[in-house]
Order: sequence, then structure tokens, then C-alpha cells
Amino acid sequence: MSITLNREHLKGFVEQKDIVKIFPNIERAHNELDERTGAGGEMTGWTDLPSRIEDKFLDELVQLGDEVRSHSDCLISIGIGGSYLGIRATVEYLRDFKIPVYYAGNNMSVDYLHQLLETVKDKKISVVVISKSGTTTEPAIAFRIIKKFLEEKYSKEELKKRIICVTDGKKGALRKIADNNGYRSYVIPDDVGGRFSILTPVGLVPLAIAGVDIKSLVAGARKGQEEYSKLDVENNIAYQYAAIRYLLYKKGKYIEVTASFYDNMYYVIEWWKQLYGESEAKDGKGIFPSSLIMSTDLHSMGQLMQEGARNVFETFIDIERPKYKLSIPKDDEDLDKFNIVAGKDLDYVNTQAYKATASAHFEGGVPNMTLSLCQSDEFHLGELFYFYERAVAISGYLLNINPFNQPGVEAYKTKMFALLGRV
Ligand code: PA5
Repeated sequence: MSITLNREHLKGFVEQKDIVKIFPNIERAHNELDERTGAGGEMTGWTDLPSRIEDKFLDELVQLGDEVRSHSDCLISIGIGGSYLGIRATVEYLRDFKIPVYYAGNNMSVDYLHQLLETVKDKKISVVVISKSGTTTEPAIAFRIIKKFLEEKYSKEELKKRIICVTDGKKGALRKIADNNGYRSYVIPDDVGGRFSILTPVGLVPLAIAGVDIKSLVAGARKGQEEYSKLDVENNIAYQYAAIRYLLYKKGKYIEVTASFYDNMYYVIEWWKQLYGESEAKDGKGIFPSSLIMSTDLHSMGQLMQEGARNVFETFIDIERPKYKLSIPKDDEDLDKFNIVAGKDLDYVNTQAYKATASAHFEGGVPNMTLSLCQSDEFHLGELFYFYERAVAISGYLLNINPFNQPGVEAYKTKMFALLGRV
């Protein structure tokens, strides 16, 4: 298996026999998910999505990417939430994309957008605007501003090459804008919600333009679909992860910190936070998803993890073989006494820091587990995306909530629209 789950530091908190005890609940969740009979079953199109993506479609997107890059120096990806985080997670995880990707519509900070436009004003720009509903405030307003900015730079015909819309097949303002202006557009399937949409055109279109190997990403997700859809709690680590989280939650561990000693995991964990926060937190239930990037955050949050309220558990994401190597040099004076690691790779020290932290936090009363990825590439990320999606669905059903809706996010919007005087 290319992703593994180490449970050593759960001893005394959650044992295999505890997982076995809740097997009937896991079996019920599994069946409801696969038979689409559970809450929100109409939004479970993501479960077999990787195997349904046609290779021909991936070839078309690779060609689209080549074509857009041939006339662009940069891409602006406009979107928020599920129409933003997976894209940024992938780009920042891989860090070897072919053109720079900038993000807009993920906040409404005026200084941010002003500075972005200043940065790109002399570049050849293409834009992908992504919104499933086609009506979300942040991307809609950012697109208005950016469209106007592009209209001053390019002809209407040229804009048809440079603006690509990813939205609903029939409804929403963005669908109309695409159709009325003759912009190229791609459809987001009805049965896949925003936070589960990274393997739909939401993710695949901008990632193909960025030059990400989308075929490997999808191949990894297909492997994930095969591995993590099995009703086999002995071997299915997605189901183990879901069960462990549920059992820890029942013991009062209300916060999960996903931590990594690899800083390129930052946005992957941000994506995970949306997936888990929006999916589970309903009816007064749910684990609060939080994150730390180490060793940076050990120097600010290490005290809390070691000795704070014991209502937290931790999931580390480890990368066994980072892409690069960097040897630590020998120093003749050795004033800092680090000649003990001279000649070793920097990752050796990072790994010892991870092992020490996992052990110290466990001894301090924080149960923890580790997901290990063999290496940081598209394939393993695709597999990880599917792992997390499958696990949160099972976890949500264990909690007896609908993991596929997000009614709570409407409350602030209603008040904001009232303040804006929008009907
Ligand atoms: O998960 C969700 O559904 C939300 O976070 C959405 O992804 C986010 O609000 C963006 O929505 P849309 O793609 O409709 O603009």
C-alpha cells in the first residue's frame, strides 16, 4: 500500500478490539454510502468518480493546458472553498508547476486583489473562474473586477481564449455569463458537492493548465477508490481512521490536529479542514479540525500540545521520501555542536523531530497516529484525497449526520445580503 497508518501512539486510547466492536456501525455506514441510501445519498457521485473519469477527457484537458500555456505567462484561478482549496493544495504540494498560479475570489481583501492585479498587469493572463452555484459573492465580485481589467487589455475574441468557466451545466449566473460571452466552459456534476470536487473539472481544468500531471493524480485516486472502498476494517485504513476518530470523539477528544513536518502539506491540510469541518459539524456534533506545520509551530503551539487541555488528538502526515536531498555540512569549529549530524540529509533530522514529537505528545496524553505517504507526487496526493473523502463519509454516518450538506454556511450570507440591500 502506498499510504500506511501507524497506530502505535493510540495504545491505551483506542485498540483494535474497540474498532471491531463498532464494526456493525461501520458496515451500516459502508452499505448506506455505496447503496446511496444514507443521508445526502444524492450527493455521493464522488464515490466512484475516479473510475468514471474517461481517459479521453484527461487527454483533452492536457491539450487544453498546452494550448492555454502557449499564450499565457500566468493563470488566475478564481474560486473559494471547494472551488479553491483542492487546487491550491495540489499546486503548493507539488511546487513544480509550469506557469505561476494566482488565486482570487478566495477573500474580499481589497489590498490583496489590488496587489494581485499590479503583479500580473504586464503579463499574458488566462483565467479560470470556478463556482458550482455560480452565485457565490467572493468569486462573483472578483470575476467582475478581473473581467473588466482584462477587457481593457484584450479584445472580446481574445477573451474567449483566455477566460474559462467551470460551473453548473444549466443554472447560475456564471453559466449565463459563459454562454452569453462564448467563453469555454466545463460542467461540475450535480451529485458532487464543492468540498468533494477536486477530481471534477473544478480541480482538473486549472491543474491541467498549471501543468500538473492530472493523469497520475487521477490514477492515484483510482487506486484510492479500489483500496478504501472495501468493507475490510483489518486492512482498510480509511475505515480505521474514521473509526478511531469516532472512538476518540466519544472519549472527549473534540479537536483533531492534523500536523505535518512537511510545509508543502499546508494547503492539503487546509483542504482537509474544509472537508472535515463542513461535513461533520452538524446538530451540535463534530470534531473541530485544526492544523499545525512543524517544526515551525512547535515553537509557538508546542506547549499547548504537550500540556494544554487534554481534549485533543493528533494525526501526523509523514512523507517518507521527499523530492530533494540536502546534506548538512561539517563545520570545523562546531560551535553549535551539530557535527553529530554532519553528512546526514536534512530530512534525517526532520524525521527525528517528528518521532520525538509523536512520542512526547503521546506521553503528555495526546493520542496520535501517523499517515505515511511514500513520496510527494501526484499519484500519492490523488490517493490521499480519496482516502480522506471516503473516511469522512463513514465518519459522518457514524455520527448520524448528513456529511454532504452545509446548511450552516447560509446564516451569515443571509445577514450579509440584508446589509448589502441585495434581494
Ligand atoms: O463545500 C462547499 O459547498 C462550499 O464551501 C463551496 O465550495 C464554496 O462556498 C464555493 O461555492 P461555489 O463553488 O458554489 O462558488
